[in-house]
Amino acid sequence: MLSKQEKQQIEAKVHHYPNKRALSLEALKIVQEHRGWVTDEGIADVAEALQLRPAELEGVATFYNMIFRKPVGKHVILLCDSVSCWIMGYERLREHLTTRLGVGLGETSVDQQFTLLPNVCLGACDHAPVMMIDNAHYQDLDAGKIDEILAMYR
Ligand code: FES
Repeated sequence: MLSKQEKQQIEAKVHHYPNKRALSLEALKIVQEHRGWVTDEGIADVAEALQLRPAELEGVATFYNMIFRKPVGKHVILLCDSVSCWIMGYERLREHLTTRLGVGLGETSVDQQFTLLPNVCLGACDHAPVMMIDNAHYQDLDAGKIDEILAMYR
């Protein structure tokens, strides 16, 4: 069941959307904000609240890669692996990040601080290579800059 707060936040958004289906992504984001990730129970809770089938919500959650269907760390790093970032050193940076964090892509560090995920273009190709941590964009990256950025999150 949705918590009182989740329910209130979802209800506050209803008038921004033409119908409940259109609201589904926003509702999943709200549940994720509160629970850290979206469990099967979370899918069922949102489906019940919006009177949609769980499979519809599952489809939205699968399509949108910022909805996490398994536990993630305190901070989620999205490393762009699209063409401009590839050309500008993606592989070197991926190597650096995986070594620094002790994880592969799709994994969470042992201290539960970071989950590292690949992501398609983050929309700042002219400043490649690019990554996001939570909602913050970081661009024109190199290994030194990554170290400085990670230090801010520790
Ligand atoms: Fe990486 Fe566009 S290709 S931000």
